[in-house]
Amino acid sequence: MTDTNKNTSKKLWGGRFAGTTAASVEAFTASIQYDSRLFKYDIRGSIAHATMLAGQSILSSEELDAIVAGLTEIGKEIEAGTFDFKPELEDIHMNIEKALLDRIGPAGAKLHSARSRNDQVAVDFKMYLRDQCSQIIELLDGINIAFVVLARKYLGHIMPGYTHMQRAQPVQLAHHMLAYYEMFKRDKSRMIDCRKRMNLSPLGIGALAGTGLPVDREQVAKALDFDGVTANSMDTAGDRDFAIEFTSNCAMIQLHLSRLSEELVLWSGQEFSFVNISDKFCTGSSMMPQKKNPDIPELIRGKSGRVVGSLMSLLTLMKGLPLTYNRDLQEDKEPVFDAADTVSSSLSIMAELLDNLTFNTENMIKATQTGFMTATDLADYLVLKNVPFREAHGIVGRLVAYCLEKGCELEDLTVDELIQFSEAIDRDVFEVLSVEGSVNSRISTGGTGLLKVKEAVDEAEKQLGIV
Ligand code: ARG
Repeated sequence: MTDTNKNTSKKLWGGRFAGTTAASVEAFTASIQYDSRLFKYDIRGSIAHATMLAGQSILSSEELDAIVAGLTEIGKEIEAGTFDFKPELEDIHMNIEKALLDRIGPAGAKLHSARSRNDQVAVDFKMYLRDQCSQIIELLDGINIAFVVLARKYLGHIMPGYTHMQRAQPVQLAHHMLAYYEMFKRDKSRMIDCRKRMNLSPLGIGALAGTGLPVDREQVAKALDFDGVTANSMDTAGDRDFAIEFTSNCAMIQLHLSRLSEELVLWSGQEFSFVNISDKFCTGSSMMPQKKNPDIPELIRGKSGRVVGSLMSLLTLMKGLPLTYNRDLQEDKEPVFDAADTVSSSLSIMAELLDNLTFNTENMIKATQTGFMTATDLADYLVLKNVPFREAHGIVGRLVAYCLEKGCELEDLTVDELIQFSEAIDRDVFEVLSVEGSVNSRISTGGTGLLKVKEAVDEAEKQLGIV
């Protein structure tokens, strides 16, 4: 006769099954090799759930004590690396629950009352992602501090600004640095939004339809620092919007990092020689003794592929998935973990690299002296002398062609030569033809004039609390 009251099998259940699961199926369906990283959240969620069950008289206080003590001990063992994870128990939830059952007996078998793995995995994942958002927000502040420090340090230094990778107009180097500050600031606000939107507790929705047991979802939500509970049990069981939103934010961050990386790769090459990446952040070539390669920005640029790929995996995973929970959803974790790890390590090493970066300001200013970078200023000068802009554009275009023929820059022309192209030109024209004059005239809001950039640096320092 079999004892139906005792669970003596390797697993947590099995009543419905006549045979055991094939080893190949166990191996194929297991997720413990990657979802074990959710253990802290799983234990915290279970303690909050058990506490609520005790409050609702579903567990006695002795049973609750045994569960809390058992879970705490299991948590310590996992932390210490001494816990024996079993792939046949599939995932982190069942590994922990089975270990609890083996240690404390019948009380352990009551923990899963009014809970399914569907709400359990959702709560673990959300708690994990909340923490990841917070960590990435801190790292975004870190990289932005590096940009603002550079902007302050190089305030007043001028470089070419580019469109189409062609020299366009001179700008403050600090303005270029603060462009990245703005990008990562937006990334931060996206992470804050995402953290806030996901912060509703899924626990207590049952498998998909709610539960007839008298649960107190709000109490569990409060204990786990959620702002409230989710509204619809069916939506909750299959919702992964929060994971997609997080990974999309990660993709955007990595994309911003890749743009920066591309510029650092270009600027550190001999063709530009705008920047020195510290030796600490470069590697040599196995064959060419003279090489100093910008591997860090290159790798960060390359890693944008995997983060965007993770986002694509998730979007594809969710497309067409019927309500509510489907096992497909187990495939949500690896891309999210990989995106979070990649973005965190990239942000942190890039901030370090920026802390050790120096600019070759002489090469930068030198690069502004050729390429007719003040041509727009000359056109604007004519506009102020009442020449219609389109006409002014034509005049300056012809002047540039003349200079190209002559092999000189606009600044090298005499007033007499200039006047031949437009009567509106006067001696004061040379003020606008200088690079410095050009940059500092651009004091429109958001412009690169020293006055504006200085204000922007002050403001950024204030926002980051580094004054
Ligand atoms: N390991 C599963 C996952 O990550 C947990 C939820 C399993 N639920 C189920 N009904 N099979 O999605």
